[in-house]
Amino acid sequence: MKNKITKAIFPVAGLGTRFLPATKSVPKEIMTLVDRPLIQYAIDEARAAGIKEFVFVTSRGKSALEDYFDHAPELEAALRRSGKDELLEVLKSTNMESGAIAYVRQHRAMGLGHAVSCAKRFIGNEPFAVILPDDVIAAETPCLQQMVEAYAETGGCMVAAMEVPPEKASSYGVLDIKEDMGSIVSVKGMVEKPKAEDAPSNLAVIGRYILTPKVMNNLNKIDKGAGGEIQLTDAIAEEIRQGRDVFGYRFRGQRFDCGSKAGFLQATVAFGLAREDLRHELAAYLDEMVSLRKAAQ
Ligand code: UTP
Repeated sequence: MKNKITKAIFPVAGLGTRFLPATKSVPKEIMTLVDRPLIQYAIDEARAAGIKEFVFVTSRGKSALEDYFDHAPELEAALRRSGKDELLEVLKSTNMESGAIAYVRQHRAMGLGHAVSCAKRFIGNEPFAVILPDDVIAAETPCLQQMVEAYAETGGCMVAAMEVPPEKASSYGVLDIKEDMGSIVSVKGMVEKPKAEDAPSNLAVIGRYILTPKVMNNLNKIDKGAGGEIQLTDAIAEEIRQGRDVFGYRFRGQRFDCGSKAGFLQATVAFGLAREDLRHELAAYLDEMVSLRKAAQ
């Protein structure tokens, strides 16, 4: 029987430079996809997977993110008074239980691995999940839930994985596959942002992880890796070197890289089209734009 995963780390201490100037004052994770901040999608996914404790690794300038999780009694009362019951329900669905959220500071953006290691005291000796809120995954069964189910079979460490075009592999952590079993692959190596010619495959790591507490120990021991940052990939690869199991999981769903402008715009269109209340108007507008572009060519 594998340990249940009840804790998740949300590393949100990055500088978000690709969204400057917005990220001068708005944390990237508060930017809205239709009408919900990115972080809300991540929280909803974690809850669906059975996560009960949420650890945010934050940094200077992220107070809007911390405030987002406060309850809003005045707003709730106003909506109740004006009979806006649907909105009231939407608002209440974002409320978090008191004590379920912890915030820990990363004082300098030294990399994703370093951010995760900042949450060590909250994790103790249990396996835990890591969710990067800027990877948004649209899926019938939420991605982390799929992984928790797969992990119940495999144990070890598990990373979400996705085939990317070979020329893009150098932007990701890339898996060296030992055995391909379909949705689950066992892994014999992992390399962060390899040069195109060194990439062991085009199966890339996406921002969902289930990790053993040993990875936390590895993070304290490894040197800086790609980009001069402490890399989570390197700490997971260390598990393989020490003879322990690491798996990639090919999730079912569509992933949007909301850390990039093009990815964010694509997600906005896709999530807008998925919404009953917006689909019609948005689709008509997109059709019109496409026709105008074609006519101009
Ligand atoms: P990114 O690589 O997207 O970096 O981090 P970033 O700083 O957020 O954005 P850009 O590249 O400057 O535009 C991936 C995830 O890791 C977190 C980020 O907040 C994001 O969720 N992260 C990264 C940290 O928490 N700390 C770090 O030191 C680096």
